[in-house]
Amino acid sequence: MTLYGVGLGPGEADLVTVRGKHVLEECDVVYSPGRLSRSVALEHVDESKIGDLDFPMTKDEEKLRAAWKEAAAEIAPNARDGDVAFVTLGDPNVYSTFGHLRRTIDAFHPAVELEIVPGVSAVTAFATAMGVEIEAGAGLSLREAAAGHSPTGPDRMILFKVTDAPATHEGLVEAGYDVTYGRRLFMEQGETLVTDDPAEIDERDYYTLAYAEKTDLEIESATAAFQTDDESGDASDGEPVADGGRNLGDEELVKIERAEGCAQGDCGGN
Ligand SMILES: C[S@@+](CC[C@H](N)C(=O)[O-])C[C@H]1O[C@@H](n2cnc3c(N)ncnc32)[C@H](O)[C@@H]1O
Repeated sequence: MTLYGVGLGPGEADLVTVRGKHVLEECDVVYSPGRLSRSVALEHVDESKIGDLDFPMTKDEEKLRAAWKEAAAEIAPNARDGDVAFVTLGDPNVYSTFGHLRRTIDAFHPAVELEIVPGVSAVTAFATAMGVEIEAGAGLSLREAAAGHSPTGPDRMILFKVTDAPATHEGLVEAGYDVTYGRRLFMEQGETLVTDDPAEIDERDYYTLAYAEKTDLEIESATAAFQTDDESGDASDGEPVADGGRNLGDEELVKIERAEGCAQGDCGGN
């Protein structure tokens, strides 16, 4: 039997994946580490299935280890007798509490089978919510910016845990970044806000992230040229890079996939 780590997505119940929903429905117990993940899970399972776990609000490593050991001891017998799920917002492998549970289960209950169901992470949801495109070839770095920190360096960054937006903003602008903030993106609970003005979100809310991009960044996407060079819109002179939905043999598919890769600038190996 299995312990599933299920990513619930950013917070709206219909952004749970089809697989995630099936797993929640099939599991005997669904454990949640917080109020928000619990309320999303409750859109898909009955309250009677929700398992209780206590987590202390502490950074003390000793206390945290003890709490995870206790949680694992509660979950493991149920995961041996049946299927259980541990839910997290976003994806279970991205800045998530599930990592603590996985390591503790591996250490103390190695017989428990583990499976992860990925979720829509804030790492990708932010782009849609803010109307940002991370174009092919661009780099994107993840950083934390709790307590007013302003990490700098990469051309583009997603900053998690922005708990003091005005202080973080000051450092980022000084270092030459344009910054957009997103609060409670695709979340049912609380008000969704996207803004460039840190004063609008000076009140602390853990579910706040920022996207920072170097002000002088030059975008070199082929189709960006349409906006300036080529008004005709005639794109028929290149090699085909998509199958148009036809049924194709394996060889032809491989050729098209190579062409798609080359169109993205990835002509290297296989
Ligand atoms: C511990 S991380 C969890 C990330 C999550 N596992 C994921 O994949 O999206 C929590 C941070 O992610 C960001 N975050 C997660 N969900 C968010 C949302 N719906 N709206 C805005 N920020 C979010 C916030 O910066 C928050 O402090």
